[in-house]
Formats: sequence, C-alpha cells, structure tokens
Amino acid sequence: MEGSQVIKAPAEVCPLCEGTGWKTVAAGPKTGGSTNDRRVTRCDCRLRARGQSLMAAARIPRRYEHCELSNYDTDFPAAHPSLEEAHFIASGFAKKCDPRGDKGLLIIGKIGTGKTHLAVGIIKELIVNRGIPCLFYDYRELLKEIQNSYNSTVQTTELGVLRPVFETDVLVLDELGAVKPTEWVWDTVSLILNTRYNDNRTTIITTNFDDQPAAGAAGSISPARAASRGETLGDRIGERMRSRLHEMCRIVTLEGTDFRQKFRNANFR
Ligand SMILES: Nc1ncnc2c1ncn2[C@@H]1O[C@H](COP(=O)(O)OP(=O)(O)O)[C@@H](O)[C@H]1O
Ligand SMILES: [Mg+2]
Ligand SMILES: [Zn+2]
Repeated sequence: MEGSQVIKAPAEVCPLCEGTGWKTVAAGPKTGGSTNDRRVTRCDCRLRARGQSLMAAARIPRRYEHCELSNYDTDFPAAHPSLEEAHFIASGFAKKCDPRGDKGLLIIGKIGTGKTHLAVGIIKELIVNRGIPCLFYDYRELLKEIQNSYNSTVQTTELGVLRPVFETDVLVLDELGAVKPTEWVWDTVSLILNTRYNDNRTTIITTNFDDQPAAGAAGSISPARAASRGETLGDRIGERMRSRLHEMCRIVTLEGTDFRQKFRNANFR
C-alpha cells in the first residue's frame, strides 16, 4: 500500500471558499446587525464554473465567439449614429433585463451591420455576469433540426430540439425570416414565438428584412409597387407573427453599410 502511493500535486483548492462553494462576507450595516455579522454566499469559483457550463450550453457558433459588447465599435470613420444608440440599448439590456417578463429585442438591419455581434455580446454578458441561461440558434439551422427530428411514423416532432428553445431564459433567434416561407415554416415559427410569449420569456431576434407589412396586408402598399420592392418581414413570417413580435420585442435598427467592407483592406474578415 505504502509503496504504491503516487505523489500528487495538491489539488487546486479555491482559496476563497476552500472548496466548499460558499464564502462568508460581512453582512453590512443595512441588515441592522453589528459590523461583525457575517453571512454566507455562493463563492466566485462556483459562479465561474456555472458561467462556463452555461456558455458551453448556449451554442454560440465559433464564427461569433469574438463578439462582445466591449469590442463593438461605434466610433470608426463614417459609423452611423444608430450603432451607438443600439449599443447603448444592448448594454442596458444586458445589465438590467429581467428574463422573466421583460421585452426582448428585435434587431433589424442590412447584412453586416453587426446584428449578430450585438445579440451574441448581450447573451455572453447575461451568462458570465448574471448566470442567466441563454441559447443561440440560427433560424435556418433550428428549422432544419426540427424538421430532421420529425418522426413520420407517429407524425410528431421530438421535443428534444424544441424543449430548450421553449424553456431557455433568453433565446437568440438569428436571421429570422431567412428560410423561404411555407405553411410548415409559419406554423413552426408561431409555435416557438407564441410559446415563449405565453410563458413570459425573453427573445432576442435579428433580421435582414424591413419591418414592413406583407404584400396585400391592410395598410401595405399596392400589389403593383409591392412586386418591385424587396421582401419584408411581413412577407417572410406573416402579419400575425410580425405583430406578435412587436408585443414581444423592443425594436433596434442598425443603419449603415456592411462593417466588413470598410475593413477589407485592413485584413479584417
Ligand atoms: N460595429 C462593429 N464593431 C466591431 N465588429 C463589428 C461591428 N459590426 C460588425 N462587426 C463584425 O463584422 C462581422 C459581421 O457582423 P455581423 O454581426 O455578423 O453582421 P450581421 O449579423 O448584421 O449580418 C462580424 O465578424 C462582426 O464581429
Ligand atoms: Mg447575422
Ligand atoms: Zn471558491
């Protein structure tokens, strides 16, 4: 026994809590006790561990791993003022939003204006600073996964894909409307959005489509003019869902041109 013992380096024990996961802090004068009063609270090491596992569960694509609110530039030459405003709203949201009941954000803008960057920056802060469970899904990817999990023998979709989408505290749905609309697509989108709406959960959505009515909807332009304009959010997800989104989200609009174009000569991808 003695001879076979391996000499191990001492395991890394957290110096704050000595591995218990709890640390004592001064209760402070507000509680009415003396300044010697102590109370226990979750140790930083456990919060860090929670942050790491939430980050892994959030499914942020590698392509967007670098996106933070702190490296979102609003100050480059010719930056549109809407970037600064959007960044301000995003930062306030990350700091203060209550994921049980607060409206989410609908981030609208042309391709490359930094919509996904902002959305990822927000959920990273929610995870790391506040321990809030978040989930990132590209709209096309999500619909594909749901479709693949459809079991034709029993005509049901596995809840395995949908449950986290329904239940996560904050969902990012990136590039809403990017799939050619069909009845199945509309049914699926309304199932997801209505479920989250009814459960009072917060959703952050990005889209390249203008927040305008569908062709032929009340208040929309004439069909003749509609034929020559670009497709709108109403065209892509239907008017019912577009108005549901207005109830669920605060609208943030990013103007300007593709961020990457400006930096093409500066080795920026
Ligand atoms: N204001 C910005 N500051 C820093 N990086 C940006 C900014 N806007 C866009 N980017 C970067 O440019 C690329 C494209 O942005 P992205 O968020 O994917 O645009 P969108 O989702 O609007 O199409 C990403 O790598 C992103 O990090
Ligand atoms: Mg994007
Ligand atoms: Zn600790």
